[in-house]
Amino acid sequence: MTTKELKEKYLKFFEERGHKIIPGASLIPENDPTVLFTTAGMHPLTPYLLGEKHPAGDKLVNNQKCIRTSDIEKIGNDTHLTFFEMLGNWGLGSYWKEDAIKWSWKFLTDKKWLGLDKDKISVSCFKGDESAPKDEESAKIWESIGVPKSRIKFLGREENWWGPAGKTGPCGPCTEMFYNGIEIWNDVFMEYNKTEKGTYEPLKQKNVDTGMGVERTVAVLNGKKSVYDIEPLKSIVEKVRELAKIYDEHSARIIADHIRAASFILAEELVPSNLERGYVLRRLIRRAIRYGKKIGIEQAFTHKIAENIEGIDNKDFVIEQLIQEEERFGRTLEKGLREFEKGTDPFILFTTYGFPIEMTEELAKEKGIKIDKKKFEKEFKKHQELSRTATTGKFKSGLADHSEEVTKLHTAAHLLLAALRKVLGEHVSQKGSNITAERLRLDFSHSEKLTDEQLKKVEDLVNEQIKKDIPVVCEEMSLDDAKKKGAIGVFESKYGDRVKVYLINDFSQEICGGPHVEKTSELGHFKITKQESSSAGVRRIKAVLE
Ligand code: SER
Repeated sequence: MTTKELKEKYLKFFEERGHKIIPGASLIPENDPTVLFTTAGMHPLTPYLLGEKHPAGDKLVNNQKCIRTSDIEKIGNDTHLTFFEMLGNWGLGSYWKEDAIKWSWKFLTDKKWLGLDKDKISVSCFKGDESAPKDEESAKIWESIGVPKSRIKFLGREENWWGPAGKTGPCGPCTEMFYNGIEIWNDVFMEYNKTEKGTYEPLKQKNVDTGMGVERTVAVLNGKKSVYDIEPLKSIVEKVRELAKIYDEHSARIIADHIRAASFILAEELVPSNLERGYVLRRLIRRAIRYGKKIGIEQAFTHKIAENIEGIDNKDFVIEQLIQEEERFGRTLEKGLREFEKGTDPFILFTTYGFPIEMTEELAKEKGIKIDKKKFEKEFKKHQELSRTATTGKFKSGLADHSEEVTKLHTAAHLLLAALRKVLGEHVSQKGSNITAERLRLDFSHSEKLTDEQLKKVEDLVNEQIKKDIPVVCEEMSLDDAKKKGAIGVFESKYGDRVKVYLINDFSQEICGGPHVEKTSELGHFKITKQESSSAGVRRIKAVLE
């Protein structure tokens, strides 16, 4: 079975059971530049897990592209990938453990569907701890459909608990399915909301969030041990093999994984940089190049690998960016080498020149130079922690936080965007937003600095709407109607045909998942605290409510 066939089957299976097929979201989370990548299908659906109504209904099914960088040292083993696809069925308060587990079992074992050997499937359930009880219910359901007790394990929070994606948000125990010991599917029962205080409150509704790893499942369906032995990975690894002078499977897998992930990120028109997403992207590309050197690939090669990767949009852009980054890295390496000859601290080589550590170590070895390993390791750890925060620890507030403060600022952000479009022109569109309980931050397309007069006008316009005490109305409509109404927002049909539009009279109409306040007067007084440039052609405004 191919990945395409598996995806079709999965969507069909759940569609036949009342689920609406919705498209997957972008790899780059909408409206929140502080969340680096979509790491699971649940991430874009957070507002609906928290109780907002999804326009497509309460039973959904989709395929979501994901990026996970937290397991980078595991890449190259049989089952881990930086970029992967995840199939998921979603019950937004509509069904619970019994249906979820029985459907999973049917899909996995029924001859009409995957027809996997029942005797090779084992499952795990949450064993319980101080904040949530043992999940006996799931185990009983597994038993009732014929999984023997000996193949039902109870495990702790590390294994059998999912979420929240960030510090706060929906989460709950999960039950995982393994085929021949390889985890292929995870049914999460999201019934809690983790609060700022670290406590678990019951959610408004009980949700089911499931995730089936596409590449892993296709590997087991084809009797393969490794995701690198099936398409689309297999041909990428083969391409690497063709280019290599000294072949080593582990390095080839890392290169295949990293270039594939980097290509999908580049396809979102993100470019390598030293910050956040751009930094993750840069690390992936440079790490791949480094492994390329290890297996004797001398010339620029990353773009040649990317040429063979299927399903990437914007291919010309992706290839051009890879060529440029490889050139830049080449120059950096030269500079770094000169520094190295001068005796520069290896750690500085790493942080300032982007010189890979392994390379520094190797070079030092070649030249018989001793590296103060202890110091280096200490510094390295510090650096790792910093970059880990930069890559994974960033799921804050935004839409995942439904506190009163955040909700108010969210409505204020809509007013601000509408006001900016009125003062500066219709070319202004949102490029990102991040909201904490204290302030909002909005990035928008506009190339010049705003004059004091413009800022004042924007502020006044927002405050006028607040004073008018306008009701904030949410309407569900087709994407076409939303467009006709002049609503702004993300138009690619992200939620199927029906979208939610938040209207604040005719001042603001925005496609959005919510939530928002009921009336603008709840906001108090709006004040812009800062404007700055965010990147080329993008300005950033920070504002508060007083
Ligand atoms: N969120 C869960 C996971 O990623 C299930 O979708 O495994």
